[in-house]
Amino acid sequence: MGSENPGIRMTYGNFLQLDELLSLQSGPEGYDPAPSNHEMHFIVVHQAFELWFKQVNRELEEALHLLNVPDVEENKIPVVVSHLERCSEIFRLLASQWKVMETLSPQDFLAFRDRLGTSSGFESWQMRTLEMLLGLKSEQRVGGMDPMEHNRKLHSEGKLSDSVMANMNRIDELPSLNEVLSRWLARTPVNGVSGDTEILQNYVEDHLSSMVEHGESVIAHMVKIGHGTEESIRPRIESGIVGARDFLLPDGVANPARAGLLYIESYRELPLLSWPRRLVDTVVDLEQAMLLFRSHHARMVERMIGRRMGTGGSSGVDYLDMTLKYRIFTDLWAVRTMLVKRDAIADPVNSNFYGYAADN
Ligand code: HEM
Repeated sequence: MGSENPGIRMTYGNFLQLDELLSLQSGPEGYDPAPSNHEMHFIVVHQAFELWFKQVNRELEEALHLLNVPDVEENKIPVVVSHLERCSEIFRLLASQWKVMETLSPQDFLAFRDRLGTSSGFESWQMRTLEMLLGLKSEQRVGGMDPMEHNRKLHSEGKLSDSVMANMNRIDELPSLNEVLSRWLARTPVNGVSGDTEILQNYVEDHLSSMVEHGESVIAHMVKIGHGTEESIRPRIESGIVGARDFLLPDGVANPARAGLLYIESYRELPLLSWPRRLVDTVVDLEQAMLLFRSHHARMVERMIGRRMGTGGSSGVDYLDMTLKYRIFTDLWAVRTMLVKRDAIADPVNSNFYGYAADN
């Protein structure tokens, strides 16, 4: 029996490859003097983050492959949601791990900071990979930074391994989660029908009319309670409606993904749409968790190095604060501005299509 043979008995240590793992905290080869306690703490915190990034990348790829098909089976949506929920929880955990980093005082950090040279979290290829998998584009990044270009340069200088470069090239070829999500949203049945341009157009026009009608009641109410005059309130309400029209009807034609998203968010009572809605909520939750993670990193850095330049050569905290503007799933955020309370929009047509609770 294998389990009785001491030669191949699985132990905690060999299952986790602990010897190897725990021998990796003394800096690169020839690092002299060996890391102090504070420096080892700095290494351990970074390595813990990188291990979690590895897991996030794996979860995101699995989610991406499940959604990257012409017809996503309904029973796959909960699986996608569970992959993404794990990522959100990891980012929430990481956002609080900066507190451990903050037990290092600025002086303790300065004692070994010069030894880091130009190395910086900026070069974390796993972080760049997960941003690419989600769909953060170069043009959305500070200074239009292209992580592929940066890493190709490092690779050509022999500072990035072939296998890392090959993996980044492979990820670069994949569609992003944002793209596959958008394709999936575009197939949402609206009023019981998928892919009918006229039905989509009418649905969006009706929604915009509800916004206008609701806007009028908001203006009347605000004026009545003395929260401004019609002249001050009307332009704001109307510009919101112009924004919604541009978003939902670019060039005058309903955008199927945005119309589907609006439908999912508007009719929260339709059972068939409850998992799609969970998926949308989970993606928003993930992006929110990442933003909080970025924000807590920036605050930790400000506390640690003030307004100094980063070791990676950026302006430091100012740069990190600019990354807080990053939004990947822009449509998912934008649609929130356009929602109208449920009793101010029309009831869904063909509600039976969406299941038992929809015949109100
Ligand atoms: C004393 C601790 C730390 C300080 C002072 C610090 C400082 C900085 C600074 C100044 C930057 C901007 C780029 C540059 O010019 O270097 C940066 C970027 C970054 N750091 Fe840290 N960091 C610390 C710890 C960590 C840890 C533990 C991680 C975990 C992996 C991390 C991950 C990152 C990432 C991913 C970026 C890139 C952000 C982006 O470009 O969006 N940092 N860090």
